Amino acid sequence: MNTDYLAKFYKKTYTEKIDALVKAELLTELQADNLKSEGVDLGQEIGEHMIENYIGNYSLPLGLAMNFLIDDQETVIPMAIEEPSVIAAASFAAKIIGSAGGFTTVVSERMMIGQVTLKNVTEPSTAIKKIKASKQEILDRANEAHPSIVKRGGGAKELSVRLLESDPSENIPSFLVVHLHIDTQEAMGANIVNTMMEGIAPYIEALTGGTALLRILSNYATECIATATCTIPTHKLTSGQFSGEEVRDKVVEAAQVAWVDPYRAVTHNKGIMNGVDAVVVASGNDWRAIEAGVHAFAARSGQYRALSKWHKDEAGDLVGTLSLPLPIGTVGGSIGIHPAAKLSKILLQEPDAKRLESILVSVGLAQNFAALRALVTDGIQKGHMGLHARSLAISAGAKGEQIEQVAESLKHTSHMNLQTAKAILENLT
Ligand code: MEV
Repeated sequence: MNTDYLAKFYKKTYTEKIDALVKAELLTELQADNLKSEGVDLGQEIGEHMIENYIGNYSLPLGLAMNFLIDDQETVIPMAIEEPSVIAAASFAAKIIGSAGGFTTVVSERMMIGQVTLKNVTEPSTAIKKIKASKQEILDRANEAHPSIVKRGGGAKELSVRLLESDPSENIPSFLVVHLHIDTQEAMGANIVNTMMEGIAPYIEALTGGTALLRILSNYATECIATATCTIPTHKLTSGQFSGEEVRDKVVEAAQVAWVDPYRAVTHNKGIMNGVDAVVVASGNDWRAIEAGVHAFAARSGQYRALSKWHKDEAGDLVGTLSLPLPIGTVGGSIGIHPAAKLSKILLQEPDAKRLESILVSVGLAQNFAALRALVTDGIQKGHMGLHARSLAISAGAKGEQIEQVAESLKHTSHMNLQTAKAILENLT
């Protein structure tokens, strides 16, 4: 990839942008022509096969975040999101972080967890002993239920058992839960895991005398964690009248607030997920699974807390770290079907699942840095309002060049609202 051609990408026309992607060697001429002529929306036929009672597509804009340097690899990141300023913020943050060495990531072994939850186990301690003694038999049966994943080098690798104690105050009985720890390779693996869980449930029922109430993947992927770190020297943090040291210290304080205050933590984490979700959606992955898991992870101490941490290191630099459970895949589901997901894969240079995790967690950290930096300096509205002006101009009915003209005038009014946008548009026409 030659990113020189992507400089000032935001200033290019639509056609210039696509042409620049060809020059940068991210797209072939053919892929670019297809994009220009066909777009990336689902066709009716594919849509009808994807869900039930299909009546049309609900499109999101697909844009590119620039300037990302992740583990020394330049990366252009497709993001599907309707919220203005998210992509600009990510690109801006990535530029600062990239000039300071970029993002360094660590990705754990990717293990998914499947659960068989048993009720009516009369002798839990005996049942636990029997399950543990039959570990290999259970793993073998799980792997026999899905032999193709074993052929690809994955499969059920480990087993653990959890006793969920009864809670008489809520009239809840005890349950016994068998976990399988499954390597799903490049897939997110829901189907693989669910097939295995349904496959082993009768054997576990016979072993324990209990009844399998649930046989399903857990979306709390605590064995599929990606961490990104960045280090930013203070001279790169100066903003307007704020010194780099001031910005650094306030970012650290803002992160501390989000660690102790759940009300702030939710907003802090929402900002992180602005970036993560947009890439999860663009890549054709299941964003509900990621959202559910990430927020459980944020509450793993018993209190809902910030997902990221920021501190000052010995050199006085600002260091940010973000860890997320990211059970994504690069195959399966709509990944190989949706035209936007297929394009995203090409633009991301065909990442494997671990690399995609590195990209996702880096985008989350960039987004968090951009939000905190803005919040502790000018406030968030300054950047937001420029983009909001364009949305208002479009809502007021502006077309083509009128959009920029109305947006520009709106920025200089004291009441930036739809009524004012309509009035400005009327004056133009
Ligand atoms: C807005 O979509 C996200 C922010 O609220 C995140 C944050 O406050 O950290 C700006």
